[in-house]
Amino acid sequence: MAKRAETIYLKDYTAPAFWVDSVDLHFELGEEQTRVASRLALRRRPDSPSGALVLDGDKLELEQILLDGRPLAANEYLLDDESLTVLAVPESFVLETTVVIRPQDNTALEGLYRSGNIFCTQCEAEGFRKITYFFDRPDVMSRFTTTIVADKQSYPVLLSNGNCIDRQDLGDGRHSATWQDPFAKPCYLFALVSGDLGCVEDRFTTCSGREVALEIYVEKHNLDKCAHAMHALKKAMRWDEETYGLEYDLDIYMIVAVDDFNMGAMENKGLNIFNSKYVLARPETATDADFQAIEGVIAHEYFHNWTGNRVTCRDWFQLSLKEGLTVFRDQHFSSDQVSRAVKRIEDVCVLRTHQFAEDTGPLAHAVRPEHYQEINNFYTVTVYNKGAELVRMLQTILGPDTFIRGVRRYLQHHDGQAATVEDFLMALREAGNLDLQQFQRWYSQAGTPQVSITSQYLAAEQALEITFEQFCPATPGQANKQPLHIPCKIGMLDTGGQPLTLQLSGDEAGTGTEEMVLHLRQDKETLRFINLPEPPVLSLFRQFSAPIRFVGEESSQTLAFLLKHDSDSFNRWDAGQRLAERIILNGANQSSRETAANDLDLLAASFASILQDDSLDKGLAAKLLELPNELYLALQMQEVDVEGIHTGREQVRKHLAVNLRELFRAVFNASQSTGDYSVEPEAVGRRSLKNRCLWYLDALDTEESSQLVADSYRSATNMTDRIAALMLSVDNSGALGQELLGDFYRRAENDPLVLDKWFAVQARSSKPETLASIKNLLSHSSYQPQNPNRVRALIGTFSRANPLRFHVSDGSGYALLAEQIIALDPVNPQLAGYLAGGFSAWRRYDEGRRKAMQQQLQRIVSLPKLSRDLSEVVTKMLE
Ligand code: PHE
Ligand code: ZN
Repeated sequence: MAKRAETIYLKDYTAPAFWVDSVDLHFELGEEQTRVASRLALRRRPDSPSGALVLDGDKLELEQILLDGRPLAANEYLLDDESLTVLAVPESFVLETTVVIRPQDNTALEGLYRSGNIFCTQCEAEGFRKITYFFDRPDVMSRFTTTIVADKQSYPVLLSNGNCIDRQDLGDGRHSATWQDPFAKPCYLFALVSGDLGCVEDRFTTCSGREVALEIYVEKHNLDKCAHAMHALKKAMRWDEETYGLEYDLDIYMIVAVDDFNMGAMENKGLNIFNSKYVLARPETATDADFQAIEGVIAHEYFHNWTGNRVTCRDWFQLSLKEGLTVFRDQHFSSDQVSRAVKRIEDVCVLRTHQFAEDTGPLAHAVRPEHYQEINNFYTVTVYNKGAELVRMLQTILGPDTFIRGVRRYLQHHDGQAATVEDFLMALREAGNLDLQQFQRWYSQAGTPQVSITSQYLAAEQALEITFEQFCPATPGQANKQPLHIPCKIGMLDTGGQPLTLQLSGDEAGTGTEEMVLHLRQDKETLRFINLPEPPVLSLFRQFSAPIRFVGEESSQTLAFLLKHDSDSFNRWDAGQRLAERIILNGANQSSRETAANDLDLLAASFASILQDDSLDKGLAAKLLELPNELYLALQMQEVDVEGIHTGREQVRKHLAVNLRELFRAVFNASQSTGDYSVEPEAVGRRSLKNRCLWYLDALDTEESSQLVADSYRSATNMTDRIAALMLSVDNSGALGQELLGDFYRRAENDPLVLDKWFAVQARSSKPETLASIKNLLSHSSYQPQNPNRVRALIGTFSRANPLRFHVSDGSGYALLAEQIIALDPVNPQLAGYLAGGFSAWRRYDEGRRKAMQQQLQRIVSLPKLSRDLSEVVTKMLE
């Protein structure tokens, strides 16, 4: 199918020519086809030029079309695969259409589709056009009334946005429900669900005393897995009232879990639809990380009710306006629930591993891109997570109270509107009376800025001069970059590890704090701190105050010192990471082996004191003892040394295990769980520390260590402990892995989310036979190529989380990925586009691997039929 292949530009934005005052939809859901009747009340905008009415519609079968009640003759309108054009229309009129669609055949999971026996919708970004003719753009906001008609027995539950205003038994075995959403919304927030679902109910009383019914709909056998999600929802609702003064605005809030979903979840007004992965959890089926992800995603979708729904985006270039802000809000919420330090470390780890990678490759783009071909390809870590970091910097620059006032001002001024990044920055600027002109560059400039730091202690003057130099590497389409406004949170330590009072020269009256924010704005600038009787130890970019790479001049001793003493827990962790990185990367290099060996003793000593420190938060201890992951390490090399990284990291692991085995053993024993399973931070931290110790002990590769892993698996009472042990056993030589995999499969009892884990564990294995086992798994009876979670578990995990085996030097890993992408593209283009991202770093590898990946990309791009999703990413990668 020849699809729109042109590029869409932000600069070409024009306001819509019509308003749609109301939308009345009527769905007849059938086993073979669904009939959608729509009635639109349209009005031409006064300042818009006269001309035809053009509505989006993606391969709809038009049955009927009426204008103000009159059937249109064939020469009065035009139809193609993407649109409906009515040639002449009055200033204000009613357009009625009836179309037929086939949700049963919709494997792309956009528009109206089936997940098992459930009818459900996904309209963001451009799925509504697969349901009926409409202006499928976020700046057209209308009031929706939706009637659903379906067989009563198979589809007892009929849901849409807003409030249910009518129910009818139609007498012929069918029934209907009518829903009305009092809030005008863009069509991407439309939702419909119908099926034989069970419901968990609860209530929430808002701060102004309104009663809200809370309902979570799931397949009946999952009713016992909803408690955590419901609890999280109530916490999120309260938190948004207490933190932002934002109250929920409808009488009912519904969440539906479906097994087939392209993304995490969707914030449809009053009727969120979720990937079941982010709803369903019991201790035996979900890990601590799953429980936390559920809490985060539930909160994220709830927070969208204000940041996204009440105030939406003018166009899809502004996507980060809702996503960056909402991710920031969910991260803030989660950090109020769990260990703040650990949460920050995790969030930064995602950014530095995945977003920094995106920035170095051919798909690098700004938080607000300037053009795209397929918007589905822009739901990225850059738009979401870097976007959240930009909002976080704004909070740092304005201060927390002014920041909240600014966000509230933005929401008040734009309530019911479709806004832009400029609108947001303007409201913050007005609240803080601050200049954000230069800051705005963060939204349009792609790439990870590098800040290099040099410092000089002037003993005679008791002063320290720090020179900051910023530089941002070129990214596709952006050769030259301008300096950014970078907030740097700074502290200093004396040689005893105690915090020093900071005083900037020229600011003699300064209040003398132990931490301050420096505003870096130039390519190069020098700041002078005074009243320092001895050379201080610098702690820079505390809490990762800006999404930059910072290049310091610290000795390994200084890093070990910061790891031990910094009062900023993030910088403690980061110092340890940088030390470990140095060791692993130097270890791979013959000439620096000796330094690496000395540094390794330093690291071992630091780890020993962490393991002996009883006062330390256990979750933080587990983080401090973590070695940088292979993907992050790969980013630090000019040319990635796949095997070198893996072996180097394994050697460090083993060295630490051998030298600290008694300590690891003692902490492992002391961290055994007692009592009932709980997801409280203390219990989560204890399990993560215990399993971190087990990871090191396992590296000893002895009879005893393998027994420990086996015992851990067998005595596990929860998924966190069970999967941790399973993963270790699968990586080890010996038969234990196979045995435990068999056991795990039997226990999964066809629970799709547990089966996903079973596939993912095998896809992640570092064993040489991994590729062969993945090929077998592709024809396993439980492998479902149409189910995105399953595909991501097997193919996504292999290509994105198993660099050692994916990049096997003969290129067979690449061939496997390409085959899967090619097979998937006609089925689910969005997922195919996502999987193709697995090749995006191809230029950073050695010649053999580079050629092999390039060859697979060329093989894909030369296919006769390619979705827009896949063609955009593959073409960009080859450019
Ligand atoms: N808007 C959703 C979210 O971030 C993500 C999403 C995008 C879901 C596109 C489905 C399709 O909450
Ligand atoms: Zn979102």
